[in-house]
Amino acid sequence: MATALAASERWKLRMTLARASEVLRQEGIRSLWFKLLGDTVYRRLLLVERPLREPILEVKARVPIEISLLQKSEIAEYREFRAGTDVAEVQSQLDAEDRCVVARHQGRLVAANWATTNHVWLDYLSCEFRLAIDEVYSYDAFAASAFRGQNLLPTLDAEQLHHFCAAGYRRMVSTSLPENRASLRVGAKSGYRPYGLIGYVKIGPWKWHFCRVGNAPT
Ligand SMILES: CC(C)(COP(=O)(O)OP(=O)(O)OC[C@H]1O[C@@H](n2cnc3c(N)ncnc32)[C@H](O)[C@@H]1OP(=O)(O)O)[C@@H](O)C(=O)NCCC(=O)NCCS
Repeated sequence: MATALAASERWKLRMTLARASEVLRQEGIRSLWFKLLGDTVYRRLLLVERPLREPILEVKARVPIEISLLQKSEIAEYREFRAGTDVAEVQSQLDAEDRCVVARHQGRLVAANWATTNHVWLDYLSCEFRLAIDEVYSYDAFAASAFRGQNLLPTLDAEQLHHFCAAGYRRMVSTSLPENRASLRVGAKSGYRPYGLIGYVKIGPWKWHFCRVGNAPT
């Protein structure tokens, strides 16, 4: 038994080291450092904002796509596109009238972008994020890996921006890991800029949440 446990611990350690070396190779030491902190004592997300009164640049996807709103009848298809999707969660997001714009290429779902004006729960930080009455929170942007770098998310972003601007909202906000370069790049192309940092510090059973607005050191 003791030998079996030791073997499984050794296997876990090997997997952890392999993952750490992959992060180090692909994303660098800074990213590895914050991932380690995130697993232990410190987590944070960059807050980004996009005033809706600013002009919305027209962007063009680099592959032909059709854009539409995700329907409840399409949840099974969405689940195929995003492995690990919790069907009940997507159902409740749509019930709450969260808006999911999707892109299809040759009939296949290849990208999606959600937005809500409701209650926001930040799973990664286990905390609520309050929206003002005229704010919209953009979340869970995703492009199928074979379709990344094709301007799909900026195109879906532009659709959300036009919709919420026409509906009278004042600004879009979102969060991103500061290490997620592709996500920050999409944000920059869509006119988002950093305005703060939200996170927590955890020591043993104690956890302090913070939200600093005005500058965004990481
Ligand atoms: C972040 C993400 C949604 C961007 O979507 P996208 O449709 O690829 O966005 P873009 O086409 O504008 O590409 C953004 C940047 O990604 C990088 N990129 C280019 N090709 C890429 C590829 N094959 N794989 C990953 N990133 C790529 C480039 O830096 C690109 O910027 P550029 O257009 O100036 O070259 C997508 O990378 C993704 O689904 N990532 C995993 C989920 C995620 O991190 N979501 C964000 C949560 S906040």
